[in-house]
Amino acid sequence: MRIEPVAGGLGAEISEVDLARLDDAQFAQIRRAFTDHLVLFVRRQQLQPEQQVAVTRRFGPVLRVPYVAHLQEHPDIIAVLKEADERQISTFGNAWHSDFSFLEEPPAGSLLHALEVPPYGGDTLWSNMYMAYETLSEGMRRMLDGLKAVHTGKPYGKEGGAGIKGSRSIQITRGDPAADRETAHPVVRTHPESGRKALFVNAIYTTRFEGMTEAESRPLLDFLFEHAIRPEFTCRFRWSPGALAIWDNRCTLHYAVNDYDGSRRLLHRTTFAGERPA
Ligand code: SIN
Repeated sequence: MRIEPVAGGLGAEISEVDLARLDDAQFAQIRRAFTDHLVLFVRRQQLQPEQQVAVTRRFGPVLRVPYVAHLQEHPDIIAVLKEADERQISTFGNAWHSDFSFLEEPPAGSLLHALEVPPYGGDTLWSNMYMAYETLSEGMRRMLDGLKAVHTGKPYGKEGGAGIKGSRSIQITRGDPAADRETAHPVVRTHPESGRKALFVNAIYTTRFEGMTEAESRPLLDFLFEHAIRPEFTCRFRWSPGALAIWDNRCTLHYAVNDYDGSRRLLHRTTFAGERPA
């Protein structure tokens, strides 16, 4: 098995491996690479849905996230789909975020497996939240270390819909008041495996700092959202059919680029459970 970094910030491509037939030693190597590189890419995998779920389960208990319809015949999988005729709509994941950070125990990681990709466009970007934290000034780090931020599922709540307006290919619940429930997490979380500190706020789900209003929080949150996605912290993945990405939501953000109107894009997503951020 070969493991080669794809960028200075994060990400590694793994080759010469068949994820459907991993032995324990190979999986241990992949697990270490996951901790070191934060997002892994493996091309040319022929994973049936149940095989993707089995790979996911090796990383942790499979989690079914709320508000997004899962496949009827494979209830652990979300089809991330945009049809060729769905022009000028918003798409799933088209803003920097960590998956479902508003849950009390947000998912530790996610797997995305490409089935159909556009001839160009539809890339996904990731950003390294350890670097985002470590490159802040000492004074800023000290201040953030003591803060909590409030996260809500607002795209699915009373005023929701903005992020996925117009899509008929992915069924999202909107208008559910339960999604507006506030959950506070540390602004800086310590990764349970690496022991490193990572910035844990994102533009989709983080609304304010605990104990402050949205207006008071906005300038510093906007600074952090901007800082967190400096190009040096990021990598970009060009999908090919059969490619699979596995990322750690505890120390990365990601962004799905919506630049492929006129082409079909279909990926299968699974998620594995995480702990309460601390
Ligand atoms: C997601 O945010 O999980 C979707 C990413 C993508 O479609 O590239």
